[in-house]
Amino acid sequence: MTILIIGNKGQLGWALERSAENHDIKTVGVDLPELDMTHAEALNQLVGRKRWAAVVNAAAYTAVDKAECDVDTAFAVNRDGVAHLADACREHDLPLIHISTDYVFNGRATSPYTPDDPIDPLGIYGQSKAAGEKALRERLDRHVIIRTSWLYGIHGNNFVKTMLRLARERKELRVVFDQYGCPTYAGDLADAILQITKPCMKNQDLPWGTFHYCNKGIISWHRLARQTIQSASRYEKFQVETIVPITTEEYPTPAPRPAYSALDCTGFTESFGIEMVDWKDSLDLMVDGLYT
Ligand SMILES: NC(=O)c1ccc[n+]([C@@H]2O[C@H](COP(=O)([O-])OP(=O)(O)OC[C@H]3O[C@@H](n4cnc5c(N)ncnc54)[C@H](OP(=O)(O)O)[C@@H]3O)[C@@H](O)[C@H]2O)c1
Repeated sequence: MTILIIGNKGQLGWALERSAENHDIKTVGVDLPELDMTHAEALNQLVGRKRWAAVVNAAAYTAVDKAECDVDTAFAVNRDGVAHLADACREHDLPLIHISTDYVFNGRATSPYTPDDPIDPLGIYGQSKAAGEKALRERLDRHVIIRTSWLYGIHGNNFVKTMLRLARERKELRVVFDQYGCPTYAGDLADAILQITKPCMKNQDLPWGTFHYCNKGIISWHRLARQTIQSASRYEKFQVETIVPITTEEYPTPAPRPAYSALDCTGFTESFGIEMVDWKDSLDLMVDGLYT
């Protein structure tokens, strides 16, 4: 049996294809420009082409700041695209694993968000992702929504790789210290997704519903930047001498970010028997992957 991955050229999609080899799982991946999620008919044909074990949606409009002035595209992909995919999965009787985000929360909590906590997205990206979750729940029973946070991988653009680039160019970095969350290595999330799809190979049910998955540890962007440079210093001598902690106010962005978006992953572990991985161990693993 084969898993269909939508968005195989993104950070997570790429990691899914790499990890699948280790799990001995066959995959077929698609992405723009061959497949546009906003084209319902193309999506339906793809989903109906084969008896997939499951469909994994790693595709999304993820440009958080650009979304503020590109509202229609963000909703066309993150809400309508997900709705088309859910319709296709229902028509062809297939389960769908869909990825969502900590940005559905407003960040005013003081303890990790559980999947049942009320959502209140601050920006267009978060609103469009929340609308996608809703569209999926309304259309397809056999779904697993996995909200993740602060995703970084070997392939694609992310905070960790940006810090490494800037640390090569500058003596001083200025990084926000008053936003807290849980980093997530795309390789870990990919492994978890593939692990949970295994019952689908035997046409068995999963614990359907909404779950949280991230690495273990609640830290600031500043802490993540420091640890990134420290980890990569095993391989490279950097220009950077100081990483200055700055406030969110000192680093204004078009889209507001949640000040605290730690995710409670207890339900994921209880339902799927998968433990969360320590954030520092995973960061080291990602850095090893970048350099070797
Ligand atoms: N990155 C994070 O920090 C983060 C945090 C929490 C949750 N998430 C969620 O995790 C999932 C994976 O994120 P990621 O970082 O791997 O994203 P990513 O690297 O931006 O990859 C997303 C992929 O989807 C593709 N895509 C965009 N519009 C599409 C369309 N209309 N049809 C088909 N494919 C389309 C993108 O193509 P183009 O590059 O050509 O646009 C890209 O290849 C997403 O659901 C995201 O919302 C991400």
